Amino acid sequence: MPCGTVLIAKSLNTTKTTMDKYNSTCELVNTYEILEHIMGIEGLHPHSLTTINNLFNVIAKHTKDQIGIILDIGCGSGSGTHKLAKKLSENVSVIGIDINESSINKAKSNYSEIDGLSFYHGTLEAFQKENSEMNIIGIIAVSVSMFLPNTIDFYRTSEEILSENGIFIDAPFVFKFSSVSEKLKHKTYSVCGCNMKMETTEHLKNNLQKLGFTNITAEEKEFELMDLKTLSKDYTIRQLLSNFRRKTFTLPAPLKGHTSWYILRRTLNIFAFFIRNRSQFGAAIIIGIKTVAKSK
Ligand SMILES: C[S@@+](CC[C@H](N)C(=O)[O-])C[C@H]1O[C@@H](n2cnc3c(N)ncnc32)[C@H](O)[C@@H]1O
Repeated sequence: MPCGTVLIAKSLNTTKTTMDKYNSTCELVNTYEILEHIMGIEGLHPHSLTTINNLFNVIAKHTKDQIGIILDIGCGSGSGTHKLAKKLSENVSVIGIDINESSINKAKSNYSEIDGLSFYHGTLEAFQKENSEMNIIGIIAVSVSMFLPNTIDFYRTSEEILSENGIFIDAPFVFKFSSVSEKLKHKTYSVCGCNMKMETTEHLKNNLQKLGFTNITAEEKEFELMDLKTLSKDYTIRQLLSNFRRKTFTLPAPLKGHTSWYILRRTLNIFAFFIRNRSQFGAAIIIGIKTVAKSK
């Protein structure tokens, strides 16, 4: 499930007019906090944990005999970055990047002791300016690219930053059909983040092709997080409920001030919306290899 608490204030102000038309406001902050913190879901993406684990295996295998750095863009509170770091060979390290300072602080305090893993607060562009000499051999973005101002710019910047033979993986939340109604688009953005721009898998694949990446693969999975069978495989219902019960009484900062009743209602609303419309959503995996040498 897409998220990004830092985007809330801005989203609420800038998109209110569009949202008003559909009688909804951006509920991103609660969606993120409720699903990740209250439900105890690790990371927040439309893919199952198995799918993400497989992606980490792909990037680890590709970089096995190399020396360099992998960037995890939009790493959130770092649980995925940490899992990835544990799979990498000793000459490869990973840097998690996120614009949400509180997520980065959480990531640093949870995982600071681990070799080959560090975190950077800011955007990819800011990181690049400060670290242009680093040998970047992989870039991965899990459930992030739909929040970036422009996906093609993100793909282009990634292409510029990557070394020759570098691997690029984008795993975003997508609409399955380009014919998706404007109403559903707006409702989705209001639940997930008003600054979002979701695409179709085909569109993203074409973007990567235009930039000259090779060995491109584009796969589209179901919205796995909202498939109750998959969800209950990743997180037992007992675990979800017990976490929910415990955490509704010790709310994280962004939820303080709300009642447990409100949290329960919001949780049910989020699940009801996504389960009802799940045939419209997909979890894409776009992979490409940069083949041309980085121009110095
Ligand atoms: C849905 S969460 C995904 C977190 C993590 N990748 C995961 O799989 O659980 C999206 C993350 O992207 C971050 N984000 C949004 N825009 C960003 C940007 N321009 N640069 C870096 N991170 C960004 C948000 O702060 C949020 O932590």
